[in-house]
Amino acid sequence: MAKIRSPFTQLFNLSVPVVGCAMAGVAGPELAAAVARAGGLGFLGSGTSSAERIQSEYQAAVKASGSKGVIGIGLLNFCIKPEVLESTIKCKPHSVWLAVGDFKPFIKPLRDAGIKVICQVTTLHQITDVVREGADAVIVQGNESGGHGASPASTLSFVPEAVDHVQQLCSSMGRPPVPIIAAGGISDARQIAACFVLGASGVALGTRLVATNESSYSNAKKQLLVQTGSQASDQPATLRTTLYDELNEAVRWPAGITGRAICNDFTNQWDGQTPLQPEPLDQAKQSLKVDPSDLQVVGTWAGTSVGLIKSVEPAQSLVERLMKDAGAILKASGQLLEDDSLDLGICT
Ligand SMILES: Cc1cc2nc3c(=O)[nH]c(=O)nc-3n(C[C@H](O)[C@H](O)[C@H](O)COP(=O)(O)O)c2cc1C
Repeated sequence: MAKIRSPFTQLFNLSVPVVGCAMAGVAGPELAAAVARAGGLGFLGSGTSSAERIQSEYQAAVKASGSKGVIGIGLLNFCIKPEVLESTIKCKPHSVWLAVGDFKPFIKPLRDAGIKVICQVTTLHQITDVVREGADAVIVQGNESGGHGASPASTLSFVPEAVDHVQQLCSSMGRPPVPIIAAGGISDARQIAACFVLGASGVALGTRLVATNESSYSNAKKQLLVQTGSQASDQPATLRTTLYDELNEAVRWPAGITGRAICNDFTNQWDGQTPLQPEPLDQAKQSLKVDPSDLQVVGTWAGTSVGLIKSVEPAQSLVERLMKDAGAILKASGQLLEDDSLDLGICT
């Protein structure tokens, strides 16, 4: 079996170059531990969780991940309260995932505590900032990604640009290149193999892991992921929107952040009207309250590759299969080359 090795697996001591995304409300101890048992790096999504909850979920995930399991804690920069940072450092996780908002106040204190820091970014400028600050790896999140983000670029163009950018930057700093991990719209083995061809050192799986036995999404939402059709259809499967965030009084996302969700009756009715004015805002809030389990109304975060998800599976065997297949695809892709000595100069 062809196994994929990379600077990321070496630096982070992993057996497979896979990151289970830090997804609040989805990636709890069970999912993070399942990814870790498959040899990847399983992140807990914390969102606005309390310091105590982060600590107890971390302990549960470590316990469930086995002796070699690698577990990390995911934080959203703009939600980090001093006690959350303190409790995260006290846990001494292998890694911390940072995303959305100002990275600067958190990278150094975490690294000083001996914790590896992975930053999820959406622009080249952010890569420069987090690498200069000491990030150990960078997740580049393309526009295809499910849930919140702000990337103007697709994963296909962002990853190779990020690889070149980090190469130049690190060479000017006299250090080896920081591993780049691809995220956004990656649901199957062909896409994973493609990311390594683009120069990524690892892949981060979000939506694909939502549709697993271990994710904390409701069964109804998992089934919706399986049933949702293609992004490449007359009625695209998902959209980026601020609609649900405008209606969420508990969390105020920074300007410029949107969330990718599955299109439904509610987004069809209201998305074109965002930012919502006071009266439509009230109406939309009322309809959300009518039946909070109606998936034609409430939001289901998902990336553009949702159409490739055909079943809800156990996460550990899913990750193992995806990586085995990706290795086989990379190996087989050599057969595309007819003859090394052939002149493949492009005719003009
Ligand atoms: C349901 C869901 C919840 C998410 N929650 C978070 C979160 O709490 N923090 C975060 O940094 N990213 C979050 N994300 C974004 C992921 O980290 C990642 O960028 C994205 O899932 C990758 O794209 P994909 O979903 O197409 O695989 C979430 C994504 C989904 C689908």
